[in-house]
Amino acid sequence: MSPSSSVPILTIDGPSGSGKGTISRLVAEKLGWRLLDSGALYRAVGYAAGMEGLDLSDAEAVTRCAQTTKIRFQAATDGSDTRVLVNGHDATDELRTETAGAAASAIASIPSVRQALVEMQLGFRKAPGLVADGRDMGTVIFPDAPFKVFLTASAAERAKRRYKQLKEKGLSVTLATLQREIEARDARDASRTVAPLKPAADAVFIDTTGMGIDIVVAKVLAVAQS
Ligand code: C5P
Repeated sequence: MSPSSSVPILTIDGPSGSGKGTISRLVAEKLGWRLLDSGALYRAVGYAAGMEGLDLSDAEAVTRCAQTTKIRFQAATDGSDTRVLVNGHDATDELRTETAGAAASAIASIPSVRQALVEMQLGFRKAPGLVADGRDMGTVIFPDAPFKVFLTASAAERAKRRYKQLKEKGLSVTLATLQREIEARDARDASRTVAPLKPAADAVFIDTTGMGIDIVVAKVLAVAQS
């Protein structure tokens, strides 16, 4: 048994707009655990590949890009969002867009790209604990995690949440377009052959439709403290 395998992990998987990002951050703060935003890694690789002008379906070129792109998370000192540095450039704002989400979903279906990001993700498992947010945290990356949650919500509510989030960040989007884009992304994530979006057999399933953030946080904390 490696020393890191005794570090507790809470995995939070689910589709886009299910509230995973917000809930994972709040739960990690409450527990005093580290946070892995695995979606940001796929977004960063999609972004770097775009900057290099690569064809996102060119598995070999995108895999090389995933192997060489330097991704760093930098905690903000003023309490604002963690910054994501891609090859030294602060790409936080570019990574939030639905265009970046779609590019992430495209490259995330390439098995060798996923493989290139495994070690980095495993490296987040450090004491006192880890909250891991993504699509395959409980199924593929940390199958031995003692605490697993799968968050979801109705498609309409997920689109509304993402819409509000993006608007607050000053991005221009329409609800109808966003809902279409999110549904297309989730369909691709759920139907790919490698690490598809699906609940781990031992995950606690929470449908957050109509639920406030505080209630969801309490439910997820209850899983981690069970
Ligand atoms: O969670 P987020 O919306 O940032 O993820 C962006 C995309 O990255 C997802 O739509 C999915 O295709 C991919 N992803 C993944 N596996 C993860 C996290 C994200 O395939 N663990």
